Amino acid sequence: MWRITLYFFILFTIDSTLVNGESKVPCFFIFGDSLSDVGNNNILNTTDKSNYLPYGVDFPGQIPTGRFTNGRTIEDFISQLLGFQRYINPYSTQMDKDILRGVNFASGAAGILPKTGSRWGDRVGMDQQLKNFNTTISKLKSMVGGPVTNYLNKCLYTINIGSNDYIDKYFMTKNYPTGNQFATNQYARQLIARYKLQLQALYDSGARKITVFGLPQIGCTPAAFIRFNSTKCVNEVNQAVEAFNTMLVSLVDSFNAKLHMANFTFINLYSMQASTSPPSGSDTKHACCKLRSDFLCEPLSTPCQNRKSYEFMDGFHPTEIVNEIVSNIIFNPPNSFVHPMSISQLIN
Ligand SMILES: *[C@@H]1O[C@H](CO)[C@@H](O)[C@H](O)[C@H]1NC(C)=O
Ligand SMILES: *[C@@H]1O[C@H](CO)[C@@H](O)[C@H](O)[C@H]1NC(C)=O
Ligand SMILES: *[C@@H]1O[C@H](CO)[C@@H](O)[C@H](O)[C@H]1NC(C)=O
Ligand SMILES: *[C@@H]1O[C@H](CO)[C@@H](O)[C@H](O)[C@H]1NC(C)=O
Repeated sequence: MWRITLYFFILFTIDSTLVNGESKVPCFFIFGDSLSDVGNNNILNTTDKSNYLPYGVDFPGQIPTGRFTNGRTIEDFISQLLGFQRYINPYSTQMDKDILRGVNFASGAAGILPKTGSRWGDRVGMDQQLKNFNTTISKLKSMVGGPVTNYLNKCLYTINIGSNDYIDKYFMTKNYPTGNQFATNQYARQLIARYKLQLQALYDSGARKITVFGLPQIGCTPAAFIRFNSTKCVNEVNQAVEAFNTMLVSLVDSFNAKLHMANFTFINLYSMQASTSPPSGSDTKHACCKLRSDFLCEPLSTPCQNRKSYEFMDGFHPTEIVNEIVSNIIFNPPNSFVHPMSISQLIN
């Protein structure tokens, strides 16, 4: 599904931006779920954690930081492309002046709806992440001894959330009416109504350059293949996700038309996955690691050797190579996967 080989040439850009001193934006704030978590769940009472090997096996120092992948997340790569010397730290360990560079609020199992993910234990849902952002802003204000609105306006914001509202809520309901298109649209509408308030709150807090990730093809993950006992992508799941994505594009368009001095952009992860064909020899169906019953990696199990030719690290989360490919596509010049602009346009 992901074209793993074609984009290698772009990877050189990362190394050249790393040596530059100045970052292209003063700060980068990250919201989302386990796709973006870099350790916020480590201190929570939840089974949805990844601070053990084989997670992190390809991270510098082979450290399992709490990232749900073998190496870096999409946002890690974006922070490198922005010219930051170090990755953006999790809210749970944020320290002093470091918050001036931005903070990562993302939490595994989190959703748009507050109850999403509760069966795994504690997590920081989107509403709470926004409250934590306001707490951070108060700290910034006292740090600089004045208003920080102009500063916040210049930062980059990314939000990647919604997958768990499907995986852990919608498709967990025993009585889910299969094939009921109305129910699918109704659920998507409910999610989007809430998401709209959340994105508006983010804007009200001072965010102006906002990247919103659409949902990937959740029906094509190893977890979906196993859970639905299918060898093909689970259409029912993908259709539900598509309904959400379509409404999210409209929401982004309406924010761009309505909100003063704000730029939102939508990232089409779904079609990035759909329109690229798997390179021969790469595994798009199986997890790289040995799975637990909750589709996370079995702690201390031996992962696959050739991690650059696996699409998924565990039942849900892409490998580092996929994160790297995606980051380069969405950062660089405009293309059909970003609507209406790439991240480098967004920050100019
Ligand atoms: C953690 O969560 C579990 C299950 O929800 C609960 O039984 C346990 O008491 C919690 N532990 C702590 C330390 O709060
Ligand atoms: C954060 O503060 C802004 C501006 O004061 C406010 O509009 C917004 O509702 C607050 N967000 C939350 C989640 O409380
Ligand atoms: C899974 O699907 C296969 C082939 O379609 C079928 O033979 C098998 O019984 C199914 N297993 C379960 C647990 O439903
Ligand atoms: C960003 O938003 C501003 C103000 O709303 C608008 O004038 C500008 O055209 C937008 N930029 C892009 C690249 O769409």
